[in-house]
Amino acid sequence: MRFAPVALTLALLSPLSSSFFLPHPPLQNPTFLPAKTIVSKDPSTSSVQITITATEAQTKEAYDRVITDASKTLEIPGFRKGSKIPANVVESVMEKGGRGGKEFLKKQALKTLIASVVEPALKDEEGLDPIGEPRLIQNEDILVQMFTPDEEIQLEVKCDVWPEVAWKATDSGKAYDGLEASYTRKPFNQAKMDEALKDLKDRQASLAPKSGDSPSLEMNDACVVNMVGFLAKEDGSKGEPLPNAASGDQVDIIMETGKYMAGLVEGLVGAKINDTKEIKVTFPENLRDPNLKGKSAVFDVTVLSVDTRTLPEINDEFANAVRPGMTSEDLLSEVKKAVDAEDAREFVGARNKALEGSLSERIEMVIPETLVKMQAKEKFAVMLTEMRDNGTPDAEIKKLVSPENFEKYVDISRDGITRDLKASLAVEEIAREENIRIDPQEIEEQLSNIKKEMKEQGETDMDESATRGKIEATLQRNYVMDLLAERAKLDVKYEEQEEFDEKLMNQLMEQQIELEEKAAGERAAAVAQAAEDIENK
Ligand SMILES: *[C@@H]1O[C@H](CO)[C@@H](O)[C@H](O)[C@H]1NC(C)=O
Repeated sequence: MRFAPVALTLALLSPLSSSFFLPHPPLQNPTFLPAKTIVSKDPSTSSVQITITATEAQTKEAYDRVITDASKTLEIPGFRKGSKIPANVVESVMEKGGRGGKEFLKKQALKTLIASVVEPALKDEEGLDPIGEPRLIQNEDILVQMFTPDEEIQLEVKCDVWPEVAWKATDSGKAYDGLEASYTRKPFNQAKMDEALKDLKDRQASLAPKSGDSPSLEMNDACVVNMVGFLAKEDGSKGEPLPNAASGDQVDIIMETGKYMAGLVEGLVGAKINDTKEIKVTFPENLRDPNLKGKSAVFDVTVLSVDTRTLPEINDEFANAVRPGMTSEDLLSEVKKAVDAEDAREFVGARNKALEGSLSERIEMVIPETLVKMQAKEKFAVMLTEMRDNGTPDAEIKKLVSPENFEKYVDISRDGITRDLKASLAVEEIAREENIRIDPQEIEEQLSNIKKEMKEQGETDMDESATRGKIEATLQRNYVMDLLAERAKLDVKYEEQEEFDEKLMNQLMEQQIELEEKAAGERAAAVAQAAEDIENK
């Protein structure tokens, strides 16, 4: 059994937005809006191709910025470090230092320019959400040749954009209703159900004085008694009186075995009204009171009444008495649900996975390659981190980080990633459509639980607003999945699971969570490193 890495799950759940865009602040002085045309939106790849003319001011500003950045890293005789150095000086120093000179600077400026003009154009004017960095369609070398600060330049780029959820057409109702999914879980606990029903009947049982001249108690009758208790001596005779709590007046007793201390009910069989019986009992082992548990005692029990009990049938009348307006069918289904609640919770993960698979087939959506790769990078890094945690030497892991291996990994995991992303975007969309809002108080409660846990573990470092966002996303997802489950056609297979040691399982799970938390920290670094290595190769 495996548990999904927490961080990854959260990453999938948190709204992935344009924050993937590298932080390039927009250029300051666009003298006029650039002339630009969206050449085409390509729904089959969730990308757009855009032709955009950067203004004279923008090319100048981009180049100036690169010069300023470069001069910060250079030490040039005659200039104080950090002071403004003229462009031609920087250019010649870069040239002499074998750092590519003006060509290199122009190339950098072009990158800066693209990053800073494309995003605002897409976002502000087209309402599109770009993902990843825009890619040049033109030949970069030629464009670098053409790039002149203070002169316009026409750029043609392609950029992936955030996909829109499009539901497949359905005959009736909402596209995400009536999902068909199947999963396997452990059998329904019928014994527990029977017990619950019996308990319900017991509580509604009607009592009546037993008929006859001098009726005596039989099993399944009821009675009211006064009881006075004593600890039993070695020979079974009465010893010290028991504390008051163990004795009592007007005690209701149902004549069923297993309900009270062993021997009591059995000792009452045959007793009549006004009889006082001396009954030997044994206190149960699981009693709280250490002075009494497992001990033998003797009770003087005086019978005050002898009654018959009539258990009700579970029918509509009975249901109505439990709660006005309820039918027996409602009652049985509610009891069933309550009895199964704990067991069902164990399999919510399996249920959700099945639902997500089915959900991802109800949407028409192209997951852009950039998104797949981003997700794959993260998963790849998780895998590498897990390998390291499992003792694989760093040198071995480094060998795995190659563009070829990463491509292979992307291919292997593409289907799963696509399915997960689709489901996760669909869930967000459903939350919007169904107007599912999370009560802020619920979020605060969970947040304070997490804080408490962290404090217990001696950790204090937490990005509160990010955590709040994750909690909200998780809760929202849970609500959506429950809603989908309610409306789904679930085919649940009840199968006996292999016996397992629950305590051991819990222990393993805790260890796993601990590892994941630790790994989450290292993962950020690993992702960055892996991504960099892949891109630089
Ligand atoms: C039980 O005892 C009480 C008090 O002595 C008496 O009033 C009552 O009639 C007795 N009941 C029976 C059924 O013997």
